[in-house]
Amino acid sequence: MCGIIACIGADDAAGDLLTGLENLEYRGYDSAGVAVQNGSGIAVRKRAGQISELDAAVASDTPAGRVGIGHTRWSTHGPPTDENAHPHTSQSGRVAVVHNGIIENYEALRARLREEGYTFRSDTDTEVVPHLVEHYMEEGLDVETAFERTLDDLEGSYAIALLVDGEDVVYAARQDSPLVLGLVDEGTDRQRYYLASDVPAFLEFTDQVVYLEDGDVVTVDGDGYRLTNRHEDGPVTRTPETVEWSAEETGKGEYDHYMRKEIDAQPEALRGTLAGRIDGDDVHLEEFPPGTFEGVEHVHLLACGTSYHAALVAARQLTRAGLPTSAFRASEYYDLQPVDESTLAVAVTQSGETADTLGALRRAREADARTAAVTNVVGSSVSREADDTLYIRAGPEIGVAATKTFTSQVVALTLLTHRIASDSEAGTVREDAAEFLAALEAFPNAVEELLATTDARTVSDDNMGRDAHFFIGRDFEYPVALEGALKFKEITYEHAEGFASGELKHGPLALVTTDTTVYALLTGERGEETLKNAEEAKARGTHVVAIAPEGMDVGGVAGEVLRVPDTHPDLAGLLANVQLQLVSYHTAYGLGRSIDKPRNLAKSVTVE
Ligand code: F6R
Repeated sequence: MCGIIACIGADDAAGDLLTGLENLEYRGYDSAGVAVQNGSGIAVRKRAGQISELDAAVASDTPAGRVGIGHTRWSTHGPPTDENAHPHTSQSGRVAVVHNGIIENYEALRARLREEGYTFRSDTDTEVVPHLVEHYMEEGLDVETAFERTLDDLEGSYAIALLVDGEDVVYAARQDSPLVLGLVDEGTDRQRYYLASDVPAFLEFTDQVVYLEDGDVVTVDGDGYRLTNRHEDGPVTRTPETVEWSAEETGKGEYDHYMRKEIDAQPEALRGTLAGRIDGDDVHLEEFPPGTFEGVEHVHLLACGTSYHAALVAARQLTRAGLPTSAFRASEYYDLQPVDESTLAVAVTQSGETADTLGALRRAREADARTAAVTNVVGSSVSREADDTLYIRAGPEIGVAATKTFTSQVVALTLLTHRIASDSEAGTVREDAAEFLAALEAFPNAVEELLATTDARTVSDDNMGRDAHFFIGRDFEYPVALEGALKFKEITYEHAEGFASGELKHGPLALVTTDTTVYALLTGERGEETLKNAEEAKARGTHVVAIAPEGMDVGGVAGEVLRVPDTHPDLAGLLANVQLQLVSYHTAYGLGRSIDKPRNLAKSVTVE
């Protein structure tokens, strides 16, 4: 769960690599490093800590050169130290490597290499790679063949980029870890290339990309690139695509934090999600034409974290539409329910790279399920693995805490629910489809209104420093309570839990004291029932913050209230969630937390 970058032909490789690493920092950020081919060897600079530490190291001793590789790390093997930071080099220093993924058989490879006299300087799985390449080169193989032989030895997942001293070339390969090639001014004398784990790394340099596939091996120099695939003979061709995201979208603009920018971007993100997809009382999904889901009898939604909460909302919608549906935490999806060809397994994942979710999708497919993906990232691994993909079109999300993509995921899943319910014999389209879809079309305006009128900052100031923060809701608001608590704990580091409001009296009420706050989600059809549960908490002396629709009387129970604008009751919980996102944000801000990069977390979790 790291980010890699390489550049070939840049005027200032070190500068471009640092820019790329800053853009990729959301993938992991406990150490970082670069290696640059500088004419008199490979110069490596690497540091534990955030990329700013590396910036300082490079600024004080800048390696000149046009070709280089870089890495931002989120530890899996070995703590975040200078030694464990990438790039890793071979015994002689001739070969330098950056790697994202996990080499599962690294212990056996280490033992083999140790017997042959190699010594290791780090605890990482990656360090076997430069040693193996050097070993095969010493046996007389050329670099390309030595690299291929090394890949033959590896079990696990990887995106690897490799430099060899004396060559202005980057060798790279991917297997189960994302890798994209960026092309700049091809065919001109300013031609140059970038390789990275993710497009935002080099979006300010180019929007022309080639998405590499599993098994691809690419050799890139100043004159061009040669692509082969380990499972095919001869060269392979992949058509370059134009990325629709812009560099401005991936920048922070005038905001202090990406998270705040992304909360405010929700109306625009939702308009992207909905564009061209609603027509009166029907839904048109280009990716899923009518009839796609004939024969589907039940649905499994597979996801992690915030995406799992979006899946929980969708599971209720689908079940109500007549399709037995379960949402599973992807890491817990083991033989729990029968799966066959009438099962539709839907992976819900913002990044499209979450290893747990990809693993669950593979298990479902092996058991004969049909598969689909709901994701934000074009060309991501999930989009290649699932039979079909629905893009949420929310634009790039950089803040580690998912905000706009949660809202857009729920809306995209709502549209998908309509399609599945229309197609499947088991399903029934909701009776109020026209009214509901009209509310969905108007939903971005409701979010806009909320953002313009919210009192979330005052609520956060008033509740700063409480012992614990509890979030309660029922029905569609239950997943929102879970999501509210996840966001709160993730970025404030304070104790927060989400509960089904009816469950409060079955245990969690024991936690409620005069020093805690209960955020009661009173939106939706069952808001009045949750109000009663909030009253039970209030009777124990807790402070209640109500998140309630306009006009609802909460006076006797709630000490404070955050209102949500009028919308369809089934969508109101999503508005409540925006209020909770803002409460979390302001609280984290007040506490001086690292909002965009909370400790110990990464945006894209590519390890199981
Ligand atoms: C929380 C958060 C994570 C992700 C989870 C799954 O704010 O962002 O819980 O939701 O890691 O990530 P994706 O959706 O990329 O599969």
